[in-house]
Amino acid sequence: MKKLHFINGKWTGNELETIEVMNPATQERVGEVPKGGTDETRKAIDAAHDAFSEWSAKTVYERAALLDKLNDAILANQDELARLMTLEMGKPLAEAKGEAAYAASFIDWFAAEGKRMYGQTIPTHAANKRLQVWKQPVGVVAAITPWNFPLAMLTRKMGPALAAGCTVVIKPSRETPLTAIRFVELCEEVGFPAGVVNIVTGSSSQIGGELMANEKVRKVTFTGSTEVGKELMRQGADQVMRLSLELGGHAPIIVLDDADLEKAVNGAIASKFRNSGQTCICGNRIYVQEGIYDKFVDRFTEEVKKLRLGNGLEDNVDVGPLINEAGVEKVETHVKDAVAKGAEVTTGGAAASDLGTCYYQPTVLKNVDHSMIVMSEETFGPVAPIQKVTSDQEAVTLANSSPFGLAAYVFTESNSRGMQVIEKLHYGIVGWNDGAPSAAQAPFGGMKESGMGREGGQQGIEDFLETQYVSIGL
Ligand code: SIN
Repeated sequence: MKKLHFINGKWTGNELETIEVMNPATQERVGEVPKGGTDETRKAIDAAHDAFSEWSAKTVYERAALLDKLNDAILANQDELARLMTLEMGKPLAEAKGEAAYAASFIDWFAAEGKRMYGQTIPTHAANKRLQVWKQPVGVVAAITPWNFPLAMLTRKMGPALAAGCTVVIKPSRETPLTAIRFVELCEEVGFPAGVVNIVTGSSSQIGGELMANEKVRKVTFTGSTEVGKELMRQGADQVMRLSLELGGHAPIIVLDDADLEKAVNGAIASKFRNSGQTCICGNRIYVQEGIYDKFVDRFTEEVKKLRLGNGLEDNVDVGPLINEAGVEKVETHVKDAVAKGAEVTTGGAAASDLGTCYYQPTVLKNVDHSMIVMSEETFGPVAPIQKVTSDQEAVTLANSSPFGLAAYVFTESNSRGMQVIEKLHYGIVGWNDGAPSAAQAPFGGMKESGMGREGGQQGIEDFLETQYVSIGL
């Protein structure tokens, strides 16, 4: 299957070299896309720039009508989109179907939220003046999207951008361009005008370099690593590029001794093993208070042992492959380092090379401490290290001892303890007795080095709008 760039309403790029898209479950080729670079990106930006005045002049109701059709189209093609995601990046099919529905929910939410882009009338200080605040779309947006949620992270950016009146150039991850291209096909099918939605695949450095340097781009929205996020900030500095960055995480899961054990175990499993542990908000380290530590480790291990590892296209698979062999190597390094420093493996603890080159067994480590790299670096794999803590304060101090601040989880049945712990956590998202806090209507984003801006919720459209103050003399 060969797919092309979509620029100014036309599929193009047949003449270019291609990039192969591989299935991490089988190492088979799934398709190919053009290896575009600076020229194609510039053309896409020009198209988005030319389309902007007409698109932004439409009423928000006209834009919402198209977004509503797009929502319907995603849901009507849910199975196909899910299968494509599983083929490209390995997540179990049931999770991929869930992602397609989650992706549609952002389009649905922002179609409606666009109708609430209220400005403001400010009481005047002078009888001959009227003061108003207007909201204006920021302009051409570059959306740079990741492989771990190939569709939902795209729609979480496209929904608010399009509702606000912006036009977009998409640069999908090199690993998962096919899902993004299918999404763009749906945009074309439902009738978005030429130039409003464009996609370019290929060289990250060339495409990214042009997106960051081109003065016609007014905003970049990026999901990916903190390292790349910092580089984008540097590159965008010269033109004071508006940036939304959803970056790395290293989520702590805190289980206090009055937690409901079953809620805590199920919540921690949901958080830790979603997408094989390749989720920015997935629990990376678990702190359990001493009174419940042994019981938690035993029950958690028992449940993890039940998780079925395999090709996401097969029935009843809970945990799929990692995205590539480098992902497996990183997980191996974290586990070996922890074991060498005294951690004990209660289940898993090795690659599953009988299944293929990208599989790692769901793994639980006990008796871990902060000398181990798994407690400070993002693992992005199915490994759950569990450390014993004595007090609420110790859990908070350890949880906050990270440059990241995306998501944290707290399990306690006490309102008082829960509130006091959460108020002290420097995290943008907290799941309290909840291992799956994400929702289209809620703000998603991090503190500290986990990024800036929020996606989803009321807040999610603000980043695509400029505030324009108008002082009117009568
Ligand atoms: C992510 O963490 O990469 C996105 C996950 C989500 O939206 O829940």
